[in-house]
Amino acid sequence: MQTVTMRYDDCAVNGGYGRRKCGRETTGMAMGHLPMSQALSFTAAESAVPAIRRWVSIVIAQYGRRDTCPDAELIISELATNAVKAAPGKLIKVMITLDGAESVLSVWDPAPEPPQVSADPLADLDDDDFDHNGGRGLLLVRSAALAWGCTPTPDRGGKWVWARI
Ligand SMILES: Nc1ncnc2c1ncn2[C@@H]1O[C@H](COP(=O)(O)OP(=O)(O)O)[C@@H](O)[C@H]1O
Ligand SMILES: [Mg+2]
Repeated sequence: MQTVTMRYDDCAVNGGYGRRKCGRETTGMAMGHLPMSQALSFTAAESAVPAIRRWVSIVIAQYGRRDTCPDAELIISELATNAVKAAPGKLIKVMITLDGAESVLSVWDPAPEPPQVSADPLADLDDDDFDHNGGRGLLLVRSAALAWGCTPTPDRGGKWVWARI
């Protein structure tokens, strides 16, 4: 059985609580006591995905956006699974940022390749082995999100893949 390493993120802290011993990243405050942006790092393993989904759901609910939890869980499951496939065993980062009435869910992974959305999702359907039809996750993200995208991080390789809900 694979173990899941979960630790508070150790990247730069801007404003808010300032740098705390646990290293949680904050950018300003929401709802009087919650940071506007929260991030955690995980070891990229399939077994981490349920923990990521749960953490995102808890944070979204804390932000008072319980109505968006189903979309948030769907989106983060797809983005995190893709990051796990792209960079198995490496550290990946998951971030939730409040932006006015919206939230941005982001996953960073160190792989250089960008995500690829199928141009024609019906073109390559395998009717004989339906369980082997991949390439649909980002289509789900696209339909559930207000916007989504990929932002490379050239200074350290890799990229953020994000979705706004
Ligand atoms: N974080 C990522 N890093 C590198 N490639 C990615 C990433 N996310 C998605 N991709 C690429 O985009 C393709 C489509 O992703 P997706 O729609 O989730 O389908 P699936 O994961 O079933 O292949 C993937 O097969 C992969 O080649
Ligand atoms: Mg996928």
